Amino acid sequence: MTRTARQVQLISRPEREVTAAHFRVIEVELPELRNGQVLVRNLFTSVDPALRLQLRPQAPGGYFRAFPLNAALDGIMSVGEVLVSRAAGFGVGDVVSHGWGWRDLAVVSAGAVSVGGVGTLARLDTSLGPPEMFLGPLGNMGLTAYVGLVRAAELRDGDVVWVSAAAGAVGSIAAQVAKLRGHRVIGSAGSAAKVEYLLDELRLDAAFDYHDGPVLELLQSAAPDGIDVYFDNVGGDHLQAALATLRRSGRVAMCGAISEYELVGPQPGPTNLFQAVANDLTLRGFRASTNLDLLGESARLLGGWLAGGRLRYRQTIVDGLERAPEALVAMLAGETVGKTLVRIGRVEAHRPVRGV
Ligand SMILES: NC(=O)c1ccc[n+]([C@@H]2O[C@H](COP(=O)([O-])OP(=O)(O)OC[C@H]3O[C@@H](n4cnc5c(N)ncnc54)[C@H](OP(=O)(O)O)[C@@H]3O)[C@@H](O)[C@H]2O)c1
Repeated sequence: MTRTARQVQLISRPEREVTAAHFRVIEVELPELRNGQVLVRNLFTSVDPALRLQLRPQAPGGYFRAFPLNAALDGIMSVGEVLVSRAAGFGVGDVVSHGWGWRDLAVVSAGAVSVGGVGTLARLDTSLGPPEMFLGPLGNMGLTAYVGLVRAAELRDGDVVWVSAAAGAVGSIAAQVAKLRGHRVIGSAGSAAKVEYLLDELRLDAAFDYHDGPVLELLQSAAPDGIDVYFDNVGGDHLQAALATLRRSGRVAMCGAISEYELVGPQPGPTNLFQAVANDLTLRGFRASTNLDLLGESARLLGGWLAGGRLRYRQTIVDGLERAPEALVAMLAGETVGKTLVRIGRVEAHRPVRGV
């Protein structure tokens, strides 16, 4: 039987800001299922800052590959339900995660590595939480936050921690993990509503909107005695402010640099890198996908905190596959809060994407 699926494709590369016009949604014929493959009906698909880097003609060296034009966008996390299985270990009705998102139906080969291994087809234990949570705290987002704190920053008792983009998917988890482990935590984000969320809902010790003045001044008034750990989601002026505020033997978990993803030409790096020498600092980049050994541990820890109501988690859910590009644009512009997801298969009346 011939089946068709709808998928989002990139049709031109953004020179500056990405818009929905850089994409199209088309219907394609699916290949016959081969041995070792499953057909998945996707329920939710992820919207990640990293996608912006993959829209460039060349993605940064060593990173995920640039997406080809006019082809399915392989390498985007998704969760769904198995409709047909020709793969041992997977049955009809299984809820799975995989890396063939931004389409409604996906033919997935069991064992094929995607998203550095995070996106390899896996059956989900939905007793831990609903499927979409595996695109958040029970999956890659939780792992990223956990690895960044525990492995990259080597969090130590008494550390004062600053988390940037703290109202986002990774940042909101990282900030709360540090808080739940007894640290003083400062969060920053891009609006007054998000600052309120950080203080009132996530119960951080201090928070600021980075639009309210120079980041260095805002940080130093939130942390007059300095910080020991900076969980960097932003790069640029945020990293520069952290370098000037870190105390001796401070550590930076370099998770991402979203302020640079849409820039063209030379990236504005911190001008004060010498502070790393002056204060014995450690700056360590990391990727969740190269720390998969901690996935079970982070999911158990965060799942337990979620179930017990100790970890708060918001999602911005956009309905309709065709709105995935719009959701990406909104997320990059800071218009979403928590994890940005697209729910596939239900199209409701059009509402602008807004998280707070
Ligand atoms: N290392 C890894 O394995 C790994 C894995 C996943 C994600 N990441 C990185 O982690 C970071 C957060 O990812 P996420 O998925 O959790 O996304 P997210 O935080 O949910 O969404 C991105 C947020 O970044 C903020 N932002 C956008 N432009 C900014 C700018 N110029 N300056 C400051 N903030 C800006 C926006 O919030 P505001 O309203 O606060 O501006 C936006 O909501 C990204 O850098 C991403 O690349 C790394």
